[in-house]
Amino acid sequence: MTARATAVEPAISEPSAAPAAVQEIVVLDYGGQYSQLIARRVRDCGVFSELLPHHVPLEEVAARRPSGIILSGGPASVYAEGAPPLDRGLLELGVPVMGICYGMQLLVHTLGGRVEQAEVGEFGRSDLLVSEPGVLLAGMPREQTCWMSHRDTVYEPPPGFTALASSSSSPVAAVEDAAQGIYGIQFHPEVVHTPYGQEILTRFLTEVCGCEPNWSAASIVEEQVRRIREQVGDGKVICGLSGGVDSSVAALLVHRAVGEQLTCVFVDHGLMRKDEGEQVVSTFRDTFRVPLVAVDAETRFLDKLRGVSEPEAKRKAIGAEFIRVFEEEAAKLALDAGEGEDSARFLVQGTLYSDVIESGGGTGAATIKSHHNVGGLPDDLKFELVEPLRALFKDEVRAVGAELGLPERLVWRQPFPGPGLAIRVVGGEATKERLDVLREADHILQEEIRGAGLYRELWQSFCVLPDVRTVGVQGDERTYGYVVVVRAVTSDDAMTADWARLPYDLLETIASRMINELREVNRVVLDITSKPPGTIEWE
Ligand code: XMP
Repeated sequence: MTARATAVEPAISEPSAAPAAVQEIVVLDYGGQYSQLIARRVRDCGVFSELLPHHVPLEEVAARRPSGIILSGGPASVYAEGAPPLDRGLLELGVPVMGICYGMQLLVHTLGGRVEQAEVGEFGRSDLLVSEPGVLLAGMPREQTCWMSHRDTVYEPPPGFTALASSSSSPVAAVEDAAQGIYGIQFHPEVVHTPYGQEILTRFLTEVCGCEPNWSAASIVEEQVRRIREQVGDGKVICGLSGGVDSSVAALLVHRAVGEQLTCVFVDHGLMRKDEGEQVVSTFRDTFRVPLVAVDAETRFLDKLRGVSEPEAKRKAIGAEFIRVFEEEAAKLALDAGEGEDSARFLVQGTLYSDVIESGGGTGAATIKSHHNVGGLPDDLKFELVEPLRALFKDEVRAVGAELGLPERLVWRQPFPGPGLAIRVVGGEATKERLDVLREADHILQEEIRGAGLYRELWQSFCVLPDVRTVGVQGDERTYGYVVVVRAVTSDDAMTADWARLPYDLLETIASRMINELREVNRVVLDITSKPPGTIEWE
């Protein structure tokens, strides 16, 4: 039997993986630049929070039984035609509502206050004067700075509301009607440039919404273990392990939940960094005792890469082979288990909350990871998905990994592309010889970057091996060797990136080690291109 033949259709786990017993704050996204950050900051306060598009039906918000609702900022003008409206039903759910920036203007406008365009906008740092602290700003300094980003301004609060604060350009910069449980702030408490922002959020969560700050890595583990058990029952589960933090943490959570019902499949395509394959195997099989099938498929992958130099063709070749190997292993496992048709019914995916948001905000869009098709499996695989990280941001996944005892090296591993080193041998064929040179150069780079304590600060650091040779001179002899490119970038999300300003001394050590220790290399260069206009990878 192959994996494709199993009976169950792919199912998407509930949009929200909100722990059932855990209090939740719903953030409605009106398109603001910082909307995701609001949910993150709420979570930083120890309260679970999810971002939903502003247009989700009221019933969906109500079904989550939130402890409070936050309306985000957004680019529209509340009085403009087609501006995202406020569903008044939100104010009748009996839970506190707080609007931020556009969210505040929307509340004020809807409830009869005055919002108009100001002559000048207010962008950046601003001085806030608290005239009446009310419930929301109680205990905070009368004068503080805050971060503003708006052109429309509130001139009058709605009837029954108290104006709490003003700034030089905003006559009304915060309002509340504590009896109704409605609050608004013009500035952005979620950004670091509002020094009391986190405190204001905390007050809203604890004093106003009555939340207990008890959402933590430990509570996530407990809750996800319970959910996985509930979903999987005594079914068999399979997980494609890549060595990245997402699949590693997902696998460990599932293993904690259902033990030997889980089998991990690690396809070593021979395109990993030095020792990486062994580390994955020893961590999972020896330390955590997770049933693991490690497939040494280097020769198969190298065969498929023979004669291929075009980047997308490489990706396609690797992606297709990956799927073939995974399917073969899944099929073997089903036979081994000897349980016929519905063995290995579930497939673990390390889908993150950011993937969910990108694919439609958690309102049911399919989220099988397909990034560049490697490690992403085809969606006609007939497994039911188990996605224990679906509600988590990357830093939370790391915290859960640490909680589960995953070694630091894996917890903090920089992102590594599915097609591995093959797309870092650029402009030519990824042969075993070139991959080995690149692997050794990369190993030196990693050692030096880690030794300098910079590994975690960098989004990615790696080497690229162009298919060119240059002339050099070493020990009175002419050499004709490879050029190694050092690429190190800082980034928050890989959408944009800046080249990292590595110390010159460190660069010198890296270059001389590479040239001295690697016979094939006689030149090292540094890539100083940001993204945009460059991409992080060269291919
Ligand atoms: P670029 O090069 O587009 O990369 O700036 C953005 C991020 O994506 C990673 N990347 C890949 N990851 N398969 C992957 O799994 C791929 O084919 C692939 N190509 C790029 C890259 O390392 C960076 O983190």
